[in-house]
Amino acid sequence: MVVASSQIPTQYDRAAWAKGYRSLDEEQAYWIDEIEGTLPAELTGTLFRNGPGKLEIGGTSVQHPFDGDGMICAITLDKGRAHFRNRYVRTEGYVAEKAANKILYRGVFGTAREGGWWRNAFDTKLKNIANTQVIYWGGKLLALWEAAEPHRLDPATLETQGLEYFNGKLKPGAAFAAHPWIDPQGPDGEACLVNFSIQAGLSFTLNLYELNQAGDIVRQQDHVIPGFAFIHDFAITKNYAIFFQNPVKFNPLPFLLGAKGAGESIDFEPEKPTRIILVARDGKSKPQVLETKAGFIFHHSNAFEKDGKVFVDSICYASLPSVEPGSDFRDVNFGRLDPGQLWRFELDLEAKTVDRSLLEARCCEFPVVHPDRVGREYQYSYMGAAVEIAGNMPLQTLVKVDVTTGQETICSYAPNGFVNEPVFVPKPGGAEEDGWLLSMVFDGVRDRSSVVVVDVKTMTQVARLWLKHHVPYGLHGTFTPEVFKGFDA
Ligand code: CO
Repeated sequence: MVVASSQIPTQYDRAAWAKGYRSLDEEQAYWIDEIEGTLPAELTGTLFRNGPGKLEIGGTSVQHPFDGDGMICAITLDKGRAHFRNRYVRTEGYVAEKAANKILYRGVFGTAREGGWWRNAFDTKLKNIANTQVIYWGGKLLALWEAAEPHRLDPATLETQGLEYFNGKLKPGAAFAAHPWIDPQGPDGEACLVNFSIQAGLSFTLNLYELNQAGDIVRQQDHVIPGFAFIHDFAITKNYAIFFQNPVKFNPLPFLLGAKGAGESIDFEPEKPTRIILVARDGKSKPQVLETKAGFIFHHSNAFEKDGKVFVDSICYASLPSVEPGSDFRDVNFGRLDPGQLWRFELDLEAKTVDRSLLEARCCEFPVVHPDRVGREYQYSYMGAAVEIAGNMPLQTLVKVDVTTGQETICSYAPNGFVNEPVFVPKPGGAEEDGWLLSMVFDGVRDRSSVVVVDVKTMTQVARLWLKHHVPYGLHGTFTPEVFKGFDA
């Protein structure tokens, strides 16, 4: 560890943290004029990030931030200058609720329409809130939400252009998950984008999609798998797409009766195993299933094949952080939640066994690796992490973990800073340790957000771009080396 633990403040200010969960209603575009440090001249391109921007509608709070409307931020870095723009995705629900100034849709995580349970009963129509990830692939900027179609956006202005169906390969009403991976060298020898979708039920259908660089779906397969599935992310290797079927059950009655949201009707089953499903990417064999101890995973760091085994590194919780009806997410009791920790799962496909070992005990989330290492043996995983060694608490540091030794290096923003997902920007032609992390950091005392640029070799900040305002805590983002014309304010 580079920073001695005695130098890190051990307390965070809860009220300062909670301020990061306020809506940002204004849509803005401006040059960032407050830059600490120096933007590296070779760091050119656009950081897009997505997250719930609107956390109340007509004065009523959403029940969970995952129910908040998707707002895209674009930070353009060009010739040492930086430009900020934010804009809401004009989903059908956003437009209708904005016009009505009240909640018209039920949210997956418990947001209800006015009028009590009888106004919500048997209303299973979901609002495609487009709030989870934004990718730039095949010349298209796409806002993703895992239970519905992507929204296509103008990359220069962030204006919403409509739903994306990939030349009809995606059917109306079909889903396209929010966690695609870019395989740097797919089966055709070129980079490809791999993504999935789930159609839930008593058993579920798992669809796997692979898109070429033109953005067309070129490989597609689907499998019916027994049991209920709540799968947010997956992992890829050269030969496999790997899914962790967390042990949860869905109780449809309170959802159908309007008393609870779908996300509140899911119960963790600690006595049941986690099932690991390996889908052969060539589609030539049936999925293989292995079992391991119960745990809950939202995000995977990476996976690779070595010596006939498959290794998967994932942020695993001992239990599912449940969504309690009627609770306010700003009052979350961190001390009562299990921390997410980085584990390695070693899958022996011959013996059908799974060994697991802890790589990082510190509470962490949002792992990312060098894009050239996706699906391949690698050394470093980067993520947001807690400042303290044990317990669950807000993410206040960016941490680099050497997954071969467990050695960690930390860049801390405690006590006032709260970090979001880091996005890895590689140096062109560089090694695994050559690049920068970009992350949105909310300062709870200044009540403003900033975009930080951290050198991954040393894990030291090289620049910090102060925005004029706060940006609510977000989810995922991507970087493209392209600079889009027309970004001038
Ligand atoms: Co995610």
